Amino acid sequence: MSIIIKGGTVVTAEGQARADVLIVGEKVHAVGVGLDAPAGARTIDASGAFVMPGGIDPHTHMELPFMGTVASEDFFSGTSAAAAGGTTMIIDFVIPAPKESLLAAYKKWRGWAEKAAADYSFHVAVTWWDESVAADMGTLCREHGVNSFKHFMAYKNAIMVDDEVLISSFLRAKELGAICTVHAENGELVFRLQREVFERGITGPEGHPLSRPPEVEGEAANRAIRIAEVIGVPVYIVHNSCFDSMEAIARAKAEGQRVFGEVLAQHLVIDDSVYLNPDWDRAAAFVMSPPFRAKEHQAALWKGLQGGVLDTTATDHCCFCAPQKRGGAGDPAMTDFRKIPNGTGGIEDRMSVLWHHGVGAGRLTPSEFVAVTSTNTAKVFNIHPRKGAIAPGSDADIVIWDPAGSRTISAKTHHQKVDTNIYEGMTVTGVAAVTLSRGRVLWENGQLKTQPGTGRYIDRPCFPDYWTAQMRRNEACTPRGVARTLPKR
Ligand code: URP
Ligand code: ZN
Ligand code: ZN
Repeated sequence: MSIIIKGGTVVTAEGQARADVLIVGEKVHAVGVGLDAPAGARTIDASGAFVMPGGIDPHTHMELPFMGTVASEDFFSGTSAAAAGGTTMIIDFVIPAPKESLLAAYKKWRGWAEKAAADYSFHVAVTWWDESVAADMGTLCREHGVNSFKHFMAYKNAIMVDDEVLISSFLRAKELGAICTVHAENGELVFRLQREVFERGITGPEGHPLSRPPEVEGEAANRAIRIAEVIGVPVYIVHNSCFDSMEAIARAKAEGQRVFGEVLAQHLVIDDSVYLNPDWDRAAAFVMSPPFRAKEHQAALWKGLQGGVLDTTATDHCCFCAPQKRGGAGDPAMTDFRKIPNGTGGIEDRMSVLWHHGVGAGRLTPSEFVAVTSTNTAKVFNIHPRKGAIAPGSDADIVIWDPAGSRTISAKTHHQKVDTNIYEGMTVTGVAAVTLSRGRVLWENGQLKTQPGTGRYIDRPCFPDYWTAQMRRNEACTPRGVARTLPKR
């Protein structure tokens, strides 16, 4: 089946131009002015619309077992909701329980993801350490197309790793040509602060941000970055929510270190006043880590995105319905904010929220929008130009974007499998009109056309050209030019 998208403005990270796009099978075949449609091709009229690479969300948690429950969104419903919002690929996380084999966990997640309607890949978390973990990391890189390993510096007594594990894993990742990704919060400090806040009698959702101030994020980001600097491995800091962690990234980037920063759409537009909502369920719906911040951090995050300190945008889509947030029998979470499952949704809304508040508000150009919603992620995680591009040979993962279309976000109308929406009532201009995944229409005329199992696992090879330079350079010196080889005696 061929499709020709006619009359639109093709936007890539490099620029924009009026052009048609011819898709043959799963691939983009040609991009140009006045392309002829082959016999039997379907024509999609894109006049007045932007034709862009489908969004890539580098941070999701479909059906994640977490904090005593399981995230309500599964791989089919989640990739379907993603398509309704113009996102055509996710990178989710395999998170082994401590002592669980990485390879066994990876295979379990691959099984869960078989029902995905759009393409997916996996970061794999290192949650403990021994020689079998090092060996599994090698197998994952060499045989399973994994090039990124995740480290949680928070969630003490669950999946948090200490510096010893972090260093072991970073060293192994460097050998393998993989990138280290990090949830940066000082978990020991969070643990202490949680107890202190709780013992002061602050037990509801408003205690959550008090126990995770920006400083704990800044400290951990800086520590992870410095460890990565000494080891000479690239590092990617997930869900930066505040000035403090951005400051660490900005300094390291200025010194030439290969550090990448991710920001969540919700941290750009929602502030910490949500925790003061007298409706417990509504306040708990925003309990995620790192938490929503005071307004001044949002302005800083936008500047970070505009200036290149932050490279990618994500959602950390990790949905829990109100009964899950409340806890099980006896509702323990209702009386102890430490037990509220951490996570929020938004995979369906990321593109529209970023377009409306980014491009619509004059903060981002359309090309910058493409860079931060797909291309930069594809480059960092080594799937460019197969993904995050519209060029001959690229996968035909495309969103036809109606910049004038508008919708009011609501849990009543969204396609996400969760009973709340953190953007409830927000009207956004800029919506996905048609979404294609490898040449297959997933979303059109306001209707989902997804089927379970049409998504494919995407391999991501190690040693990407995009950041391998740091590894070579670090054999000789640190980014600041300090000799790394010991002087000969
Ligand atoms: O609150 C969050 N972010 N939940 C998902 C797990 C994580 O930390 O990314
Ligand atoms: Zn996290
Ligand atoms: Zn996450």
